[in-house]
Amino acid sequence: MIRGVPVVVVASVKGGAGKTTTSVLLAEAAADRGHTVVLGDVDPQGSAAEWAALAAAGGTALRSTVVEVPARDLARRLMGPAAKADLVVLDTPNRDLHLLSAALSVGDLVVVPSAPTTMDLPRAWPTLDLVVEANRPAVVLLVKIDARYPNAAIDARAALAEGGAHTLTATVPYWQSLAQAKAGRPRGRHLRVFAAVLDELLPMLPDPEESQ
Ligand SMILES: Nc1ncnc2c1ncn2[C@@H]1O[C@H](COP(=O)(O)OP(=O)(O)OP(=O)(O)O)[C@@H](O)[C@H]1O
Ligand SMILES: [Mg+2]
Repeated sequence: MIRGVPVVVVASVKGGAGKTTTSVLLAEAAADRGHTVVLGDVDPQGSAAEWAALAAAGGTALRSTVVEVPARDLARRLMGPAAKADLVVLDTPNRDLHLLSAALSVGDLVVVPSAPTTMDLPRAWPTLDLVVEANRPAVVLLVKIDARYPNAAIDARAALAEGGAHTLTATVPYWQSLAQAKAGRPRGRHLRVFAAVLDELLPMLPDPEESQ
């Protein structure tokens, strides 16, 4: 928590796993529901902040407030912005373990996005191990699901369960439209899928503390 506001950390030490996409869509799905959301961009690459800037420039500004905090004192830096929020989402870098552990230290729940493929799935484990070491609860979100291979998600879920990992019921399809779209405010089915993700995550979060 930051100032009594629950924090969802999106993490994977695998590059290109879908962290930024998950962070932005999750934050926007929550904002679309009326939550006041701070999206902390902990990645020095600044991809979430860039998404926000492009969306604003295109006249479809994000509803969540994106704050760049690629620093180990991110919790302190987020205290001001979090004061007005009821949910904080953190997009994290894949390489900088110091920044990741700073994010994990304030996280209430960690979402680890992974494609269900034989190449990608095994690479979720190092992240899950880090989250366990940090004593935080983690859930895997299966992303980039190819509709032509419906068994991939089923098999991935079984393999994760065997290793003791919890996988969300909601999954994220592979969206050509997302890969090709100009960065803007998420809408339509992208938002609907992440509303379902949000529905699963919210009951896992502590209640925001009112009197901070
Ligand atoms: N559901 C999806 N369908 C299609 N493409 C996707 C989907 N999710 C993510 N992508 C694409 O995969 C690539 C990597 O996604 P993203 O930038 O979210 O990953 P990341 O984990 O944040 O990467 P990095 O480790 O560099 O921060 C991007 O080109 C993104 O558009
Ligand atoms: Mg990223």
